[in-house]
Order: sequence, then C-alpha cells, then structure tokens
Amino acid sequence: MTTDPVKFAYWVPNVSGGLVISNIEQRTSWDIDYNRKLAQIAEAAGFDYALSQIRFTAGYGADNQHEPVAFSHALLAATEKLKVIAALLPGPWNPAIAAKQIATISQLTQGRIAINVVSGWFRGEFHAIGEPWLDHDERYRRSEEFIRALRGIWGQDDFTFKGDFYRFNNYTMKPKPADPQPEIFQGGSSRAARDMAARVSDWYFTNGNTPEGLAAQVDDIRGKADAEGRRVKVGVNAFAIARETEAEARAVLDEIVAKANPDAVKGFAHEVKNAGKASPEGEGNWAKSTFEDLVQYNDGFRSNLIGTPEQIAERIIALKDAGADLILLGFLHFQEEVEFFGKHVIPLVRQLEADRAQKVAAE
Ligand SMILES: Cc1cc2nc3c(=O)[nH]c(=O)nc-3n(C[C@H](O)[C@H](O)[C@H](O)COP(=O)(O)O)c2cc1C
Repeated sequence: MTTDPVKFAYWVPNVSGGLVISNIEQRTSWDIDYNRKLAQIAEAAGFDYALSQIRFTAGYGADNQHEPVAFSHALLAATEKLKVIAALLPGPWNPAIAAKQIATISQLTQGRIAINVVSGWFRGEFHAIGEPWLDHDERYRRSEEFIRALRGIWGQDDFTFKGDFYRFNNYTMKPKPADPQPEIFQGGSSRAARDMAARVSDWYFTNGNTPEGLAAQVDDIRGKADAEGRRVKVGVNAFAIARETEAEARAVLDEIVAKANPDAVKGFAHEVKNAGKASPEGEGNWAKSTFEDLVQYNDGFRSNLIGTPEQIAERIIALKDAGADLILLGFLHFQEEVEFFGKHVIPLVRQLEADRAQKVAAE
C-alpha cells in the first residue's frame, strides 16, 4: 500500500451514449462545450487526471466518437492543472506520429499530457478500418514495441530500434517532450497485459473489481515488476453512484440495469469474451463478468462505489489498501456528479488518509 494520497481520474465522455449500455436518462454530453466545462469542474473538485477514449466506429452504443488526442488537447487548453491521458491504439497509430504529436502537446501544455496505450478488443472496428486483427498476444507484443519506441524517441538522440513491428534508424526527434517524459498508462488484464505492464508501463489500468480481486492482480504485477527493478502504479475502474442515502444509490443502479439494452449488452459480451478467450490462458478483462457487470463497459459496478459518501470513501480506502494508486471514475450525469464527488467524497477520503497517517506515526 502507498502512503501517497490516492489519485482520482474520470473518463472523458468523448464518445456518445455515456458509460453504461442502458436507455436510462443520462445528463451527459459528448460535445466539446460540455467537456470543457466538465474538465474545469473536475480540476476544481480535486481530480488529478482525465482519460479520453479511442473508438473508431459505433458499437454497442457510442454512435459518435471524437478522436482522443485532438480532444485531449482541447481539454488541456481549457484547464490549468488537470493532466489528460489520451488513448492510443497501436496499429492505427504509428509510433513516429504518436511520439511527435504527444511531444508537441507536452511542450504546449507544460507536460500535462499522458497516454493510455490500448491493445484492442473490438474486431469489427479493426475490420471496418482495414486494420489486420492480430492474435491476442501479438497485439500485446506490438504494444510493447510501440511503448519501447516512444520511450526511445522521447529519451534519446540517434535512436535505432529493430523490432518485428517497428524500425527506427538513427532517428533524432526534436523538440523532445517537456521533462519528465509523458506518463504511459495501459489498459488490459490478461497475462500478456500484466507482463507488458511489468516490463514497460508506468501505470496499469484494470477493470472494476473487489479489493480481493484487485489485490491478486497487484501482487502478480508487482512481483514481476520487482524482478525487472521497476515499480508499476495501478489504476482501477469504478462507476460511482454517490447519493444522500444508500437506498437512493441502489435504486439508480437498479434502474440502469433494468433499462439496459439486452441485445447490445449480449453483443458486447460476445465481442469482449472472444477477444479475451483468444489469449493463451483463455482469460482477459471480462472473463468473469456477469450480464449486470457488462452493462458498464469496464465492470465498474464491481468496485461497489455505490452508496453514501461515507460508504464510498471507506471502499476507496479498501481499494487503496489492495494496491490502487488511482481510482478511475465514471458517472451517469458527469458534471453534477463530479462536482458532488469532489465536495462530499474526496474530503472524506483525505480525512481517512490523514487519520491513517496519524495512527501510523503514533505507533
Ligand atoms: C481503463 C481502461 C481503458 C481502456 N480504454 C480503451 C479505449 O479507449 N479504446 C479501446 O479500444 N480499448 C480500451 N481499453 C481496452 C484494453 O486496451 C484491452 O483491449 C482490453 O482491456 C482487453 O485486454 P485483455 O485481453 O488484456 O484483458 C481500455 C481498458 C481499460 C482497463
């Protein structure tokens, strides 16, 4: 467990339809005006990061999708402290372009851009844009080369790299990004994902989980990272429903699930379980997900941040004890709920952290 304050991030709604596959009313918009205001609310509320998503096509909701690098830059221009993490998908993104794009944004924003390297789960999307759909572990081998290439281009002059997917010959890119280099996050929970995190990523993002489920992943990654002489930080997804009473919060969850679109949820389940099954161990992010879990794209209900601010703050501390350095949050009505979370939940978390530190100091 870390003694640093736990960090908070929110999912940028840069795709339409919100973060649940449900017909429940959502007062969230994917447009830029809504998102600029949301970023400003989030930074005032005590959020450290915003995470934008990459989707190339509609599928199971998400009919419209803004491109994350351009969109992240717009959010950075509208804020002063918030860090924005832009998703990059190797394949469509080539590391030469990505390294330059991100270096420029880093220069323009005093280093507030970070990246989330994702490896692909949506075969139909790859097919639609004419990208080959590699085997599961090949996708991760490519992502690892992508990250090694970015680090090399950002960190060295005369960079030479001979990989199976990418090649660079005495390449010097200038200007480099602002110092320190942009942080590299990654998403995915399979064996290949964890091994890649241990070797090259700064941060490992995983789907929603219980503290016990999270602790097992953290022990596994940290053991492997130790062997490499590295430390990997961990971010866990959660869909937060904070209300004055637990009954109100539970009623919102029930309504989200009752109004779920069953065909879309089943289609999404089929796609993600197939993507995970293709990994050698036959598992992946969604191997154990139920119908209810899958109504939220990344199993966010499983983290159980659903209840009163007090209950949620205690559960965040339990996730922190299990090894989480960061909580990645989705909401139904983003602007008002991010504001509520900053006012009523984050101060309680900070209080619990301070109490804990005092207790440790007294021992
Ligand atoms: C927090 C988080 C964010 C993700 N964001 C995206 C995204 O924006 N676009 C995308 O195609 N996949 C995204 N993914 C999916 C992962 O890159 C990966 O394909 C998926 O989790 C399956 O990985 P696995 O087979 O290793 O379990 C995200 C995953 C996580 C955990």
